[in-house]
Amino acid sequence: MLDKDSTRGLWTSKIGFIFAAAGSAIGLGNIWRFPYVTGENGGAAFVMIYIFFILVIGLPIMISELTIGRNTRKNPYGAFRKLKPGGYWKLAGGLGVMTGTLILSFYTVIAGFTIGYFFLILSGKFSGIHGVSQSGEIFARFSANPFNTIGLSVLFIVITSVIVINGVSKGIEKWSKIFMPVLVVLLILLVFRSVTLKGSLKGLEFYLKPNFDNLSVSTFIQALGQALFSLSLGGGGMMTYGSYLSRKEKLVSSAGYIAAFDTMIAILAGLIIFPALFAMGGDPEGGPGLIFVTLPSLIIKMPGGILFGASIFLLLTLAALTTTISLLEIPVAYFVDERGWSRKKATLLAASIILLLAIPSALSLGASGWLSKLPFFGIGFMDFIVIVFANYALVIGAFLIAVFVGYSWGIKPALHEIELYGNNFRLKRVWTLLVKYVCPVAILAILGYMLVTGNYF
Ligand code: PFF
Repeated sequence: MLDKDSTRGLWTSKIGFIFAAAGSAIGLGNIWRFPYVTGENGGAAFVMIYIFFILVIGLPIMISELTIGRNTRKNPYGAFRKLKPGGYWKLAGGLGVMTGTLILSFYTVIAGFTIGYFFLILSGKFSGIHGVSQSGEIFARFSANPFNTIGLSVLFIVITSVIVINGVSKGIEKWSKIFMPVLVVLLILLVFRSVTLKGSLKGLEFYLKPNFDNLSVSTFIQALGQALFSLSLGGGGMMTYGSYLSRKEKLVSSAGYIAAFDTMIAILAGLIIFPALFAMGGDPEGGPGLIFVTLPSLIIKMPGGILFGASIFLLLTLAALTTTISLLEIPVAYFVDERGWSRKKATLLAASIILLLAIPSALSLGASGWLSKLPFFGIGFMDFIVIVFANYALVIGAFLIAVFVGYSWGIKPALHEIELYGNNFRLKRVWTLLVKYVCPVAILAILGYMLVTGNYF
């Protein structure tokens, strides 16, 4: 029961853990995805629903994941197996390890793009272009070139591995403590630049004024899915990081800080994107291409555009890196715990598997890309992995965690873990209610909706 029972590694400070876990949560999901999903779903009304789901579904599940991880001191597979030996629950943990691994396989491709775009903008590639269509052509050429897509993914995985190989405190924690403050400062500078642009007010109004007219069921699905993805839940990420957390630490307040940090950064990212977009006359509903197509074509035209544009991509790279670190740590912890491998061997093997899985994703991009249209499914390989793992498996994972804590492992042992060292959990009744009833029902509803309509988030 004592902390010295763990030879796997431990966070050395609360702030180190919070930076690392917030680093996991804050990623492309916040800076790339949140703004465009908000743009497509009517602005501030979406943000309000999103915050509601963070509080009612995200936080209770995050507390559950951290509790399972800390109690067992194991990777997701080992954690479920330890708490329920002999049954099928370990498969839920196995699903978590697989989900984290496969999310990383496509995440690293997009993360690679952010490095590529950082250099592309600095090189002046966008400086002479006229309008979005030319910017779209640059993106199409860039993403259809395997040298870029595979090469940059390899680069990203190599950087991630170098950090993970050095361990929990000397690798992940140390670098998170450097990257996260830099990220916050950069973000604040960019927000400041964006909101002080002439004409930025329209963007602020779009972003901050709620428009409830276009709300539909799909808006709620998007908000809930985004909340789970953004908080790194359902894929074993928070469970793995929780397994390195000291038992003395206040788990609930840590979860609160992580969720608040994550939400704040997502909202601030919108304050960079929308004011700049509107100031330069862009369309807020640019979809996934908002960052890679619309934005570069516009910001390049403003004074200091190269610096502003490159800084946005540097921000994205940093955010993505602290997330890929946490995603790689999931299979690494699995190999270390379950196979008894050294961290070095585990990291090298996990990184190699992920790279092999990233190649088909990378090659599926671009209209004529290899694997850009899978037989039977009719979608590209990367889209397929995104739907299966970042949508279905993630949501199923979150559902299983709520059911596991609510009914199988049990609320009582979980509360015992949370309240160790006299850490009183004041809202335990509310949490119990949310984990046992609200989370499973809400998540099942989104799962049912996704299955019936074929929509996803
Ligand atoms: N939270 C990350 C983001 O917002 O980009 C994505 C993510 C990381 C999802 C880890 C799931 C996970 F286990």
